[in-house]
Amino acid sequence: MQQSPFRFIASASLLAIALYALSCSSETAPETTEPKLTASSINPNGDSELALLMRAMYDDAAQMKKAIENGEQPVSQLDHEKILTASATEPEKAASDTYKVHAQSYLQTLKALEKADVAEAQVLFKDMVDSCMGCHTALCPGPKMKIKHLY
Ligand code: HEC
Repeated sequence: MQQSPFRFIASASLLAIALYALSCSSETAPETTEPKLTASSINPNGDSELALLMRAMYDDAAQMKKAIENGEQPVSQLDHEKILTASATEPEKAASDTYKVHAQSYLQTLKALEKADVAEAQVLFKDMVDSCMGCHTALCPGPKMKIKHLY
């Protein structure tokens, strides 16, 4: 007896969903050769808009850290407001009140940092990394090991 094509599609979808659910609990998103069946297939490499923004945020923060270490004013190169609208691998996470509260507090710490003079910048930079960590502790612990390198 042949397996019905529906069965195959259903189990492939379940597998894809299971792998995507891991993306916030493991440090790097698992590789998958399964066809991409979720909303994140809008990006050719399978990463969500939010995941790409987060990587850019990490690089941006690392760049600001270097400026502070050199005694310069840190300047962000990113449109961080996108954190409020970028589509996520798990859309229900980004739609949650928890996410929105942490996103606003992150944007505030960033604004404070950008207005700070060089003497205050070190402390305010740490506050900003704390706010990255706050949201990740609540919603997405996987990348915390990486974010710690910003301290
Ligand atoms: C408001 C919550 C929130 C804040 C604030 C936040 N993150 Fe994230 N971050 C997330 C979520 C949710 C994901 C998962 C994104 C996805 O897969 O769609 C993520 C993913 C990541 C990833 C993994 C990206 C990948 O390669 O898949 C890194 C690295 C990261 N964040 C770093 C940071 C850094 C650095 C900051 C602060 C400058 C920060 N995050 C602030 C919620 C947040």
